[in-house]
Amino acid sequence: MTEVRRALVTGAARGIGLAIAERLAEEGWQVVATDRDVTPLAGVVRAGITPAPLDVTDRPAVAALLDGMDTIDLAVCNAGISGRIGPPGTLPPGAFAEVLRVNLLGVFITAQEAARRMMAGSAIVTVASRSHLSSANAVHYGMSKGAVVALTRAMASAWRWRGISVNAVSPGLTDTDILRSLGDDHVARMASLEPGGAPLDPAVMAGAVAWLASPEGRHVRGQNLLVDDGKSIGMTPW
Ligand SMILES: NC(=O)c1ccc[n+]([C@@H]2O[C@H](COP(=O)([O-])OP(=O)(O)OC[C@H]3O[C@@H](n4cnc5c(N)ncnc54)[C@H](O)[C@@H]3O)[C@@H](O)[C@H]2O)c1
Repeated sequence: MTEVRRALVTGAARGIGLAIAERLAEEGWQVVATDRDVTPLAGVVRAGITPAPLDVTDRPAVAALLDGMDTIDLAVCNAGISGRIGPPGTLPPGAFAEVLRVNLLGVFITAQEAARRMMAGSAIVTVASRSHLSSANAVHYGMSKGAVVALTRAMASAWRWRGISVNAVSPGLTDTDILRSLGDDHVARMASLEPGGAPLDPAVMAGAVAWLASPEGRHVRGQNLLVDDGKSIGMTPW
């Protein structure tokens, strides 16, 4: 009998989260694909994927959902928002706190509630962003993702004694709604700076997450895997 592996993916109705849920299901995981708006998941009928509504900032809801799963072997803390884009001087009051609430507190709530229910050999993968290195027009977003990277390392250190691996994937520009919402001109400008000249396919991020959750990948702990075609290491041509 094959062992059933159960995963929770947050923000899985579209984009990177959906690609992660689909990849894990392909690899035989039983995936609970959650989102605060699961409407788009109605069209996704795939063996191994069960849609469920979940706002990651709602701790009782996260706890209740996890209690309803028999076991939890993998939590992918992917849900995130970009918040309003613009120079730091124009950032409205409240925007800073809202991005932190979803991108950082939401990750912590999901990871903490999952870890409480996990056995040795389980994994947590957070989705941060390359923008933690630099984000002039989204200081709150970049800061929230930098905090996710630090949180990931801290949780990895705390829970390695329990046999739980915790790592982050930091995507570069990826072709999803969060990116498209910035507008064609803005996206074209950002894409022109990418080494490959175009945003990446969400499936690339899904592959990184799936590997970190694999038996081999689980020996990696507390790392932040930048998946960005190398933009973060510079583009010196010699
Ligand atoms: N697309 C990119 O270029 C890019 C780059 C770096 C990092 N990321 C990160 O990847 C993750 C996925 O982003 P995406 O590009 O797929 O964006 P997306 O907007 O396509 O998908 C994000 C999903 O998260 C959900 N969500 C938002 N707030 C939520 C909440 N409070 N509770 C539950 N679900 C919530 C949304 O409903 C949406 O379905 C995010 O954390 C994002 O910051 C994206």
